Amino acid sequence: MIKDIHYFEELSSTQDYAINLAKNGAVEGTLIIAKRQTKGRGRKTKSWFSPDGGLWFSLVLRPKILPLYIPKLNLCMSLAVIQAVKEIAGINVSLKWPNDVCFSERKLGGVLVEMEANRDSVQFVVIGIGLNTNLKLGDFPLALRQKVTSLQNEIGSPIDNFIILEKILENYERMYATFKRDGFLPILKDIRKNCSLLGKRVRIIEDEDSESKGNRAIEGYALDIDEDGALLIRPDSGNLKKIFSGYVEIL
Ligand code: BTN
Repeated sequence: MIKDIHYFEELSSTQDYAINLAKNGAVEGTLIIAKRQTKGRGRKTKSWFSPDGGLWFSLVLRPKILPLYIPKLNLCMSLAVIQAVKEIAGINVSLKWPNDVCFSERKLGGVLVEMEANRDSVQFVVIGIGLNTNLKLGDFPLALRQKVTSLQNEIGSPIDNFIILEKILENYERMYATFKRDGFLPILKDIRKNCSLLGKRVRIIEDEDSESKGNRAIEGYALDIDEDGALLIRPDSGNLKKIFSGYVEIL
């Protein structure tokens, strides 16, 4: 799957660099890795703390699918990261739908998917992954310290970033092939198994670009992730709701 690797000691953001390469024709399988980022980005234009020690990379894909299926690739990558962490670090991490990798409700990593597409076809997708591998809790800004963790913090020793990267890519390659051949269902089974929200009471703030243009908090029970990769919520009032993307808090 990996056709071209660009490694940097420092980059503003692997995501921005990868998007720029993709706009200029980079092939599917172009991988950008940075030892540190000076302007790492998370979802919703949040900044992403990414000094030396963590694993920060972006991958260019050119899937021949409808743009509407892209959130499923996001979930596949989250699962690839979760399985790699379980296999290499041996700790029980879970998915906080749609894109957070957590250990005991503390954020360990995240996935950011961005694309250039029109209604019917995708020109390119860039999937960015940030994983707090060898960071100490004290390295994080105070405002984040209660909400985050790192692999080193949880297992007590550093981990080889390249071994974990290799495992994530191996897992993702397998899922991407399954996705293209058999669709999303075979992968969804494992996503559900690894999702920490199902059966819990949650508060969710829908993204503004969601179909219902909600952008208000909904409280209720998270029931399932459906075949579109959407989260099904039974709100305290009203009918079952299908959320395509948003920010979720476990209550
Ligand atoms: C999130 O949880 O909000 C997603 C975080 C994604 C961060 C990664 S680090 C590598 C890549 N480059 C960036 O600027 N962002 C992504």
